[in-house]
Amino acid sequence: MGATALAHLAVLRPGDHLISSEWVYGTTHKLFQGEFGRLGIDVSFVDPLEARQWKRALKKTTRAIFVETPTNPLLRVLDLEPIAALCKTEGLALVVDSTFATPVNFRPLEHGADVVIHSATKYLNGHSDVIAGAVVGSEAVIEEVKKLMRIWGQAIDPMAAWLVERGMKTLVVRVERHNQTALAVAQWCSQQPQFAAVHFPGLPGHKDHEVAKRILNGFGGMLGVELKGGTRASERFLRALTIAAHAPSLGGVETLVSEPRLTSHAMLSPEERAQAGIPDGFLRFSIGLEDADDLIADFAQALAQL
Ligand SMILES: Cc1ncc(COP(=O)(O)O)c(C=O)c1O
Repeated sequence: MGATALAHLAVLRPGDHLISSEWVYGTTHKLFQGEFGRLGIDVSFVDPLEARQWKRALKKTTRAIFVETPTNPLLRVLDLEPIAALCKTEGLALVVDSTFATPVNFRPLEHGADVVIHSATKYLNGHSDVIAGAVVGSEAVIEEVKKLMRIWGQAIDPMAAWLVERGMKTLVVRVERHNQTALAVAQWCSQQPQFAAVHFPGLPGHKDHEVAKRILNGFGGMLGVELKGGTRASERFLRALTIAAHAPSLGGVETLVSEPRLTSHAMLSPEERAQAGIPDGFLRFSIGLEDADDLIADFAQALAQL
């Protein structure tokens, strides 16, 4: 969140306007709506797939556009090129949070982004033992972020920096393995009748499969599943799992599972969640580095207990 805050403070001033995708991490939403409002930075939220909404949201004071891709927890993959083209025409900075993809699977700078943010807490460190973030961009932006960092204090501590640096030495092999295992688990889940839906951009049925195939180097380690039978079924399934830990973070060596209805989407009513495509019974997995067959066998025994 420090990286997200400073990346924006580096490109925005009081009186400026930011247009954000509405599909963003909950705390990012709170930062934009609550904190930026207090700083005199106006933020509008739009449906990122509606090109016309981006245009309609433009004001004379608009200075930047923010998107997160792939999104949480439906793993929608945004094509940055039309958004980057609009930014170029209007002279806006395009800021992208690409935490879920990692630079192994997607590099937004190659698709017209000006500033990229990663929660290094996740895949970059990869071992769920650090909280850190990264901002990537032109020298001018990074110099401004560094200046703000010294003043506002979001500097990484030496131990965390060392752990992230060590974690990144294995980033490529970890992400390649996450990609393979999550694909295998997603394919297996898509054949099980107990799941009403499986959300993974590597599956041909995913809404953004074609975009994902074109712009990603791998489909990532995040997986969303919807159990038939709602909350009761998902709670029983969760309790029966023996490998996945029930915990909110993602991107580490161990498989984690969380329930968006209790975490990222807790502020919505069950009806609003269903409307957003995240009905109760939805589980989000961060697939770790365990053996794919072991994870599938564990899913199978947990489904058998429903
Ligand atoms: C996409 C995304 N961006 C940013 C963050 C914030 O990261 P941190 O907890 O490292 O501040 C998260 C955390 O879940 C996230 O999922």
